[in-house]
Amino acid sequence: MSYRRKKVLITGGLGFIGSNLAIRAAALGADVTIVDCSVEGCGANPHNIAPIRDAARVLALDIGQAAYFADLIAESEVIFNLAGEISHLHSMRFPERDLEINTLAQLRFLNVVREAAPGVRIVYAGTRQIYGVPEYLPVDELHPVNPVDFNGVHKYAATMYHLMLARMGCLDAAVLRLTNVYGPRMALHITSQGFLSTYLRRMVLGEGIEVFGDGSQLRDALFVDDAVEAFLLAGDCPRLPSNTYNVGGPAALPIAEIAQLAAETGGGLPVTFRPFSPELKQIDIGSYATNWSRIERELGWRPAVTMRDGLARSLEFYQRERVHYLPAAASRLATAS
Ligand SMILES: NC(=O)c1ccc[n+]([C@@H]2O[C@H](COP(=O)([O-])OP(=O)(O)OC[C@H]3O[C@@H](n4cnc5c(N)ncnc54)[C@H](O)[C@@H]3O)[C@@H](O)[C@H]2O)c1
Repeated sequence: MSYRRKKVLITGGLGFIGSNLAIRAAALGADVTIVDCSVEGCGANPHNIAPIRDAARVLALDIGQAAYFADLIAESEVIFNLAGEISHLHSMRFPERDLEINTLAQLRFLNVVREAAPGVRIVYAGTRQIYGVPEYLPVDELHPVNPVDFNGVHKYAATMYHLMLARMGCLDAAVLRLTNVYGPRMALHITSQGFLSTYLRRMVLGEGIEVFGDGSQLRDALFVDDAVEAFLLAGDCPRLPSNTYNVGGPAALPIAEIAQLAAETGGGLPVTFRPFSPELKQIDIGSYATNWSRIERELGWRPAVTMRDGLARSLEFYQRERVHYLPAAASRLATAS
């Protein structure tokens, strides 16, 4: 991939996926600018970009205030647009907050981008959540859209802004519809960030793994390095054959099996099952598996990291960096020892 000296703008670059992308892009020689206003309750963590602290430019601004950095947008060769809120539960509790973060801020941002950098390649972090309860598996890009929560509705609106502006010739947009992503640099201290973040937190703390329901629902979790590779390929391909790609993990596994793997990786933790709360049941989508054959065919991407390897690599990272991801737990341990 040709990222050497390429000017790359990453929104949400202090968060989980965005920071991993920023670090990889910088390693490929890109000139990286991050825009992230560290929204409370999202995954921003300044330590996430520690490896590129001196190399990347960081703007602590809301993407909705894009007029203030229109000059930087104008000189960007690729924009990776990852700013957003991922919590489905939060979106149901605070729908207007989710609308503000996932839709209105995007609308304001894109309105500046299309003026400042007409035709620029922009790769948006979409979500599989827009499909809702799957009508068939694995889910391809032609699956009907029927989100079960406000997050899915709002992310879909932002997706359509990108695609509409691309159709009008204002932007060169690609949308990656991501499945559950996991790995280093997740905000483990925040609850409601999905079951993989909870499992990793429990693995680090040596606590038992809890499964909601009977654990038979399938999930094709995606290691963050694989997700980053998909963004980089979509950002670099001179002419994208399509503008929407489903991006999923290497295998769809029952959640009970993922829990078992997490428990083993964590050193033999107990696994217990409990019923869904009514709040969670309401937004549960049952089983999900991605059909990622389009991105494989057109961009040559396929996920490489197995769940077992990904969990081990994640645990190793968090054990080493615990103080930056679970500070309270780290200080408790320090006091005890
Ligand atoms: N993590 C997943 O499993 C997953 C799955 C599907 C889609 N996605 C999408 O990928 C993107 C990144 O997810 P993540 O897991 O890294 O989340 P994250 O919460 O770790 O990172 C998102 C970052 O965006 C920033 N942000 C939010 N609104 C902003 C705004 N208006 N202006 C500037 N910065 C803003 C936050 O401060 C945060 O640092 C999101 O758009 C999310 O919807 C993630």
